[in-house]
Amino acid sequence: MTDQPTDLRETVRQRYATAALKVTEGGTACCGSDCCGTDDRGPEPVEIDENFGSTLYAAADRDTLPAEALAASLGCGNPTAVAELLPGERVLDLGSGGGIDVLLSARRVGPTGKAYGLDMTEEMLALALANARKAGADNVEFLKGTIEAVPLPAATIDVVISNCVINLSVDKPAVFAEAFRVLRPGGRIGVTDVVADDTLTPAQRGERGDYVGCIAGALSFAEYRARLEAAGFTDVEVTPTHSVADGMHSAVVRAVKPTV
Ligand SMILES: C[S@@+](CC[C@H](N)C(=O)[O-])C[C@H]1O[C@@H](n2cnc3c(N)ncnc32)[C@H](O)[C@@H]1O
Repeated sequence: MTDQPTDLRETVRQRYATAALKVTEGGTACCGSDCCGTDDRGPEPVEIDENFGSTLYAAADRDTLPAEALAASLGCGNPTAVAELLPGERVLDLGSGGGIDVLLSARRVGPTGKAYGLDMTEEMLALALANARKAGADNVEFLKGTIEAVPLPAATIDVVISNCVINLSVDKPAVFAEAFRVLRPGGRIGVTDVVADDTLTPAQRGERGDYVGCIAGALSFAEYRARLEAAGFTDVEVTPTHSVADGMHSAVVRAVKPTV
């Protein structure tokens, strides 16, 4: 029997709750059953595959971030570089995880701008909030909710970013419709995501990795383009950056919400 969408979403939530707790609890050294202080080595990265995680960020970006934000990085690129953020802009990160891209966005948009992070996993939101406090970022806000039903009003966001999350959605048309709704006319989307070659069937994508590991749920290049255009976006670009599995790539995706 195939997984139902709600079961699949719950499986995704549990997978990322576990990842968040690994970072939150990882910095504590335990002696037998008694915890006895903080481990000087800091948190272990939850992602050890070189195609994912904080090694995809420039050293200049990494150096400004709390160790726990780096350790929790599970993305497949650096969407804050892709989206070319400007001072004063309002940014929304879909599936913000431990907050790495929200913190980098907050720095780029500056005190007159704002960076929102949206995630469905309580444990990730708690970690992201702690990371924002450590980073001293006060132009950030983390929201609990799903990327298929964004808890923000229409036309309030300049830039939607996301890093390796849209492939995890059980309702991708809803994600693109919601991104379109919250963007102001002329606003843009700049995300990184896993994308499959057009020749790969859904079954072949599933053979290359699991759903919660960001592989089986990936759209193909043609599907990504078609779904963005169906939601109303124009100037769609889907550009591969590096291979993550046979016929599967991390890609940069850009599109614009037209002004009229
Ligand atoms: C692969 S991690 C990426 C996290 C972050 N973007 C990064 O680069 O480290 C996926 C994140 O998206 C969240 N997520 C997955 N599906 C979601 C959904 N449908 N709605 C909201 N959050 C979701 C998970 O809780 C998790 O924090």
